[in-house]
Amino acid sequence: MVAMMHPNERIERTRQAMEAFFNDETSGHDWAHVERVWKNAQLIVQHAPSVNREHIELAALLHDRYDRKLVPDQAAAKAWVRNWLHTLGLNALQVEAILYTIDAVSYQEGKNPIQPQTLEDKIVQDADRLDAIGAIGIARTFAFSGAHHRPIYSGEPIPEARGTFLPSMHPDTAIAHFYEKLLLIADNLHTPEAQAIASKRHAFMEAFLAQFYAEWNGER
Ligand code: ADP
Ligand code: NI
Repeated sequence: MVAMMHPNERIERTRQAMEAFFNDETSGHDWAHVERVWKNAQLIVQHAPSVNREHIELAALLHDRYDRKLVPDQAAAKAWVRNWLHTLGLNALQVEAILYTIDAVSYQEGKNPIQPQTLEDKIVQDADRLDAIGAIGIARTFAFSGAHHRPIYSGEPIPEARGTFLPSMHPDTAIAHFYEKLLLIADNLHTPEAQAIASKRHAFMEAFLAQFYAEWNGER
């Protein structure tokens, strides 16, 4: 039986394991994404002193480890995460709470049946969503589209107002993804810190799209 590990050691071991795991992923779920989500979470935690910091950091570091887009066998990957957390010395209650946070992070076109409940769940979800918007979010969208051999844009009509986008009427272009996800994020965050960061990133995306359409139409 090893001596009880310090929370910082559990976090550091998990950080190292995830850096090694995600190192050669290039479709938008690389280690740099996970590290930014982890940093975003730490930033938000500074304003929420009563939360369980270790829970949040471990969930942020592990949040994409059993994403079904990334692993061939999601159940096996989730079992790996459960075992990893037990091996670090966390009890079953703590482990299942972290797994719930991870399960509630996922976006799934806004239709994830597992919704965040605790502030820990909400902070990790906000941290992940911040990385889907702004300059980084734009870059990830085009990287994902390219990795899936999809066009940048196909001249499809631009939705007039938020919420009027119907994916069924749109081709799978990078630009269409802004209307199905990126532009909806700022209004759907939980914490004031994430909302403040998101409003600047949102304005940047609006400016990007305006310039994009102007160039597409040969106006600028
Ligand atoms: P996250 O890890 O942020 O939860 P996802 O797993 O949904 O994000 O997707 C990874 C990245 O690829 C995100 O930046 C997301 O916006 C982008 N992405 C997801 N689906 C599409 C799509 N259909 N077209 C373009 N980009 C996409
Ligand atoms: Ni993620």
